[in-house]
Amino acid sequence: MKLKTKLIVAFMSVMILPMIFMTVVMHTFAPREVGELQQLYMIVVFITTTMLIYWIYRSVSLPLAKLQKAARNIKEGNLDFEIRQESDDEIGQLCQDFEEMRLRLKANAEEKVAFDRENKELISNISHDLKTPITAIKGYVEGIMDGVADTPEKMDRYIKTIYNKANEMDLLINELTLYSKIDTNRIPYNFTTISAKDYFGDCGEDLHMELESKGVEFTYRNDMEEDCKVIVDPEQLRRVINNIVSNSLKYMDKPNGKVTMEVKDVGDFIQIELGDNGKGIAAKDLPYIFDRFYRTDASRNSSKGGSGIGLSIVKKIVEEHGGNIWATSEEGAGTTMYFVIRKYQEVSIDE
Ligand SMILES: Nc1ncnc2c1ncn2[C@@H]1O[C@H](COP(=O)(O)OP(=O)(O)OP(=O)(O)O)[C@@H](O)[C@H]1O
Ligand SMILES: [Mg+2]
Repeated sequence: MKLKTKLIVAFMSVMILPMIFMTVVMHTFAPREVGELQQLYMIVVFITTTMLIYWIYRSVSLPLAKLQKAARNIKEGNLDFEIRQESDDEIGQLCQDFEEMRLRLKANAEEKVAFDRENKELISNISHDLKTPITAIKGYVEGIMDGVADTPEKMDRYIKTIYNKANEMDLLINELTLYSKIDTNRIPYNFTTISAKDYFGDCGEDLHMELESKGVEFTYRNDMEEDCKVIVDPEQLRRVINNIVSNSLKYMDKPNGKVTMEVKDVGDFIQIELGDNGKGIAAKDLPYIFDRFYRTDASRNSSKGGSGIGLSIVKKIVEEHGGNIWATSEEGAGTTMYFVIRKYQEVSIDE
C-alpha cells in the first residue's frame, strides 16, 4: 500500500471509526448511558490512533534505518550486502532503487579491478615479450664486441639475427599501437560496398601465392553469387584474414601443412571459414583465444613469438563490421575460424 493511501486510511480511521462507534452507541443505548460510554470512546480513539501511528512509523522508520545502514556501508566501500524490498510503497521503491544502485556500483568496482589486473598483466606481458628479443640482441652485440664473431660468415649470421630480433620488436610495438588504437576507437574505418566474390577471390589469390611459397597447400572455395555485395573496410578485413592465416602458419606442426578458405552464403550473412591442419587448440583454451593477451600455455612456453593480441584485434574488427567470430578446434588435427559479415541489401525507394 502506498504511503499516501496509508495516511488517508489512518485519517479516515481516526475520524470515521469513532463517529461510527458514537452513532451506534447513541442509537443503541439510553442517553444516560451515553455519557458513561464517552470514556470508552476516548479509549477507542487512543488505541486506534496509537495503532495507526505505529503502523505508519514501522513502514517508514524500519526501511529508513536499513537504507541508512546501507548508505554507511557504501560510504565505507563495502558493497557486499543486499537491500530487500519488503513493501510496494514509495519507501519500498526507494529500497529497490538503492539496491539497483548498489549492484551497478559493485559491477563498476569489479570491472575496475579486472581492468587494473589486465593492465598489470599487459605490462608484464609486454616487458616479457620485449625483453626476449632485447636479451638476444644484447648477447649478439656483446659477441661481436668480444670478437666471438671472428669470421665473415659468423659476423653475417650475428648481424642477421640482430636484424630479425629488432624486426620482431618492431612488429610487436606496431601490434600494440594498433591494438590500443582499435581499443580506443581511434582507427577510422573506410567502409565501401564491394562484390563479395571479387573481394574474397582476390584475398584467396594472394593467400595462394603466399602459402605456396611457404610450401603450404591452399584450397579456396567461394559459393557466393556474382551480385552479392558486402559493406566492408577492405584493408581491415584483410588484416582479419592475414592474422588468422598467420596463426595457422605459426601453429603448424605438420610437414604437409594445409590451409583452406571457404566463403559461404548463409541467408542475410556471408560466412568465411579459414581452416588449418595445425596443432589445434585444447578445449579448455578455446573459449579464451579471442581475449586480449591470451596465449595457450603451449604457445607461451614455445619459441614462437607473439603477445596474444592478434585474435583480439580480429574480433574487434569483425564486430565493428556488425559480424561475429568463433572457432572450432581439435588438438592434433587442426583449427577452423568462422566469421560472418552481413550482406549489403539494397532497399528500394518504395520500401
Ligand atoms: N590456428 C591456430 N592453431 C593453434 N593455436 C592457435 C591458432 N590460432 C590461435 N591459436 C592459439 O590462440 C592463441 C591466441 O592467438 P593470437 O593470434 O591472439 O595470439 P598470438 O598468435 O599468440 O600472438 P600475436 O598474434 O599477437 O602475435 C595463440 O597463442 C595460440 O595458442
Ligand atoms: Mg596470432
